[in-house]
Amino acid sequence: SSNQMWGGRFASGPSAIMEEINASIGFDKKLYAQDIRGSKAHATMLAHQGIISAEDKDKILHGLDTILSEIEAGQFVFSRKLEDIHMNIEARLADLIGSAAGRLHTARSRNDQVALDFRLWVKEELQRTEQALSGLIAAFLDRAEEHADTVMPGFTHLQTAQPVTFGHHCMAYVEMFGRDRQRVRHAIEHLDESPIGAAALAGTGYPIDRHMTAQALGFREPTRNSIDTVSDRDFALEFLSIASIAAVHLSRLAEEIVIWSTPQFGFIRLSDAFSTGSSIMPQKKNPDAAELVRAKTGRINGSLIALLTVMKGLPLAYSKDMQEDKEQVFDAAESMELALAAMTGMVTDMTIRTDKMKAAAGSGYSTATDLADWLVREAGLPFRDAHHVTGNAVAMAEKKGCDLAELSLEELQSINAAITADVFNVLTVEASVASRKSFGGTAPSEVRKQIAWWRARN
Ligand code: ARG
Repeated sequence: SSNQMWGGRFASGPSAIMEEINASIGFDKKLYAQDIRGSKAHATMLAHQGIISAEDKDKILHGLDTILSEIEAGQFVFSRKLEDIHMNIEARLADLIGSAAGRLHTARSRNDQVALDFRLWVKEELQRTEQALSGLIAAFLDRAEEHADTVMPGFTHLQTAQPVTFGHHCMAYVEMFGRDRQRVRHAIEHLDESPIGAAALAGTGYPIDRHMTAQALGFREPTRNSIDTVSDRDFALEFLSIASIAAVHLSRLAEEIVIWSTPQFGFIRLSDAFSTGSSIMPQKKNPDAAELVRAKTGRINGSLIALLTVMKGLPLAYSKDMQEDKEQVFDAAESMELALAAMTGMVTDMTIRTDKMKAAAGSGYSTATDLADWLVREAGLPFRDAHHVTGNAVAMAEKKGCDLAELSLEELQSINAAITADVFNVLTVEASVASRKSFGGTAPSEVRKQIAWWRARN
């Protein structure tokens, strides 16, 4: 038999394959709460405007509340024949309240209905993401404070470059996740317009009040163009873009955690709660959570590309292609929530092995730049000459198999006569980091300023 919602012109129902490719109830049932909220606001507005009677409105609101509790109690029977969440709820409403249910869809289309439901869902997800990012930032601020003085090697090309503090390294991630959070806030502002009332694409002849529904649903204002409203999925793309960038940040951190926790580096020890053992090698403690965070990035970035590709050739206004928006967003959101929670746990719990970090910071001639800077400052050499002299000192130390600070004064003077014993004050890793007081630099005093700045904003 033909579809009870739109089957008037159809003699027979869809083929089984048609039903399968068309149905979205398997995933869009996730939108049930948003759908019911939207319908309640719409029915209330219709009655307020005299488009439906107060009596029908009351029946509709009551029926929708019943459906909400049925779904939340797991008693609702979802039907694939009814395609999607919108029609599943409307059909159940008809079972419950009879013909008044048919008045709910006045001055509305599934096109503005789905745009509304999905926007509401994405807005709530963005709010959850904002909270989760704040939690991760807070975890990093605590670790940074604790380790504002802990020296570690800073790297370029994953080769020891210059000593930094672990606190400073943590604060680099605070900056990244802080920008992600800012992007989330902007996205919430962008999507804060209510689609309901755009109807199929052209608006409606009924005397609706879109400002009233916008306000009831917590939007700043209604959207301005009905065609754009039912065609637009920018808000979903923006969520996925932001999630992708944040996932890339999480993935770089995950990669560092994997590297740092190897016995070869030994900079950190993951807690038992965030690592796993091997079923064959008893000595192993594996950073699986970090690896999975790194892998979730692939899924999240894939979702962005998938939806961009779905949208890229669509003429205005609605096409059924757009139904494919939801699984990408739901999957990315789930991955993102898990990744942020796992990362916050790992960062909070991990043990920082300050001895290992400090030993690594001092090796690999990490204070060579400090020697060059000393020659510029104290002996008046041009930086390029100082660079060359320091290169000679590194070569000498390498030949002797020792650190720069272990060369004798006589040996250093044989390279450049202007060098005095004062130079040993800058060759230690502590002196090196303490000297880097430039704004945003790694000196513990600077790192503490950065922490205070963020504490006031988190
Ligand atoms: N399930 C559909 C979706 O997710 C709802 C909108 C259907 N509109 C339509 N004109 N067929 O996009």
